[in-house]
Amino acid sequence: MAKQKTAFFCTNCGVESTKWIGKCPSCGEWNSYVEEPIIKAVKSATGKTREAPIPKLVTEINIAKEPRLNTKSVELNRVLGGGLVPGSVILIGGEPGIGKSTLMLQFSLRVSSYKIMYVSGEESEQQLKLRAERIGGKGENCFVYCESILENILLQFDKLNPDIIIIDSIQTIQSERIDSSPGTVVQVRECTASLLKYAKENNKPIFLIGHINKEGSIAGPKVLEHMVDTVLAFEGDLNNLYRILRSTKNRFGSTSEIGIFEMQSTGLKEVPNPSDILLSHTDEILSGTVVAATIEGIRPILIEVQALVSSAAYGNPQRSSMGFDLRRLGMLLAVLEKRAGFRLSAKDVFLNIAGGLKVSDPAIDLAVIAAVLSSDLDRPVPKDICIAGEIGLTGEVRPVSRVEQRIGEAEKLGFKKMLISKYGLKGIDLTKYKIQVFTVAKVEEAFKILFH
Ligand code: TYD
Ligand code: MG
Repeated sequence: MAKQKTAFFCTNCGVESTKWIGKCPSCGEWNSYVEEPIIKAVKSATGKTREAPIPKLVTEINIAKEPRLNTKSVELNRVLGGGLVPGSVILIGGEPGIGKSTLMLQFSLRVSSYKIMYVSGEESEQQLKLRAERIGGKGENCFVYCESILENILLQFDKLNPDIIIIDSIQTIQSERIDSSPGTVVQVRECTASLLKYAKENNKPIFLIGHINKEGSIAGPKVLEHMVDTVLAFEGDLNNLYRILRSTKNRFGSTSEIGIFEMQSTGLKEVPNPSDILLSHTDEILSGTVVAATIEGIRPILIEVQALVSSAAYGNPQRSSMGFDLRRLGMLLAVLEKRAGFRLSAKDVFLNIAGGLKVSDPAIDLAVIAAVLSSDLDRPVPKDICIAGEIGLTGEVRPVSRVEQRIGEAEKLGFKKMLISKYGLKGIDLTKYKIQVFTVAKVEEAFKILFH
């Protein structure tokens, strides 16, 4: 038997080389080459020649008014930027068992106005049926196809002519034209390219489910993320019921949108009012807990910031943070040391954002500081107060974006007081709110209000 020819491929950009290279000359990545069998002569899928396009004035281009497809899920529509764009390819990545298949199957079963083809290379028809029964939903227009050979899948697309396609997962699909096993760089790259071509030529949206590797990025070549139109990350703590769908790349919408779901025995339930679940409902007033008004995407969300401060048991004080940037916490603690006599080097500080959410909105700075101080002093912050403010290095409380929305959300959820920055309030009428708004310029003033 002839020896199988192999080549080296960069897992980052997909470039091919005859020998192993330490640093990819194309993308500059180190140690990214893997050895894989060479593709047999790849024929062009259509072989048709087309007319070369000519440059056009942007004003001359007509857009065919293409409505976005409604996914029947408020959260999914939002994350996609207002619905599914025809011809777009969406990659959904997430840890095993997080609920990617559940999310997609649930969507396929609920949408009855479009013909959906759910291609599974991972589960059998019986398994899918069992899952579908758990989830419920009519599924009158949902076809399942358990196959992993790309050529057969493309053939069925032509026969069935579905409106929306789901591939579960891209790592299990393989093309017969390529001589390597599914999940390898070449297979993933070529199968995605073929599916992408189908989506663009036929103007059909395709969802690709993707596995993620140990580092948390989507397994396969990094080019995969460049090729598709939208990348969604399905995240969450497996021990926690809440799941967050986040868009990390979107050619047709904002990337700061999130959708929140709760995993139940009957599938994923949408959470329309996240503030409600993220706030604890105990009546006790505890020290170290503060409610902050953040904005995720365009939605205001109230979240609980919890801190625990204790004397450092060992020489080095510990700093631990869940859901908040550790370096920013370090910066805030330094401000606290300067402004409130907090003895940084003698204290362990643990910070947690309740509900497993990750927050990057700087507006929770003031709440973080308040929670740390509250735990340190063992004096609770009143339960009816909500905070939004960014902290500068000098201890000034800086204004935050969309302050009116934050105040509105706090008022809606029954908070009596709101603490915000004194600055950036031009044109905002604070008297129209029932909630009492306190404005401060420095952290010291905020502490006076919180711990009078
Ligand atoms: P799954 O969609 O198979 O995850 P992925 O495709 O991302 O690997 O999700 C599986 C998990 O979801 C499994 O641990 C069981 C749980 N689950 C429920 O809690 N309720 C349900 O109705 C379903 C279908 C799954
Ligand atoms: Mg799955």
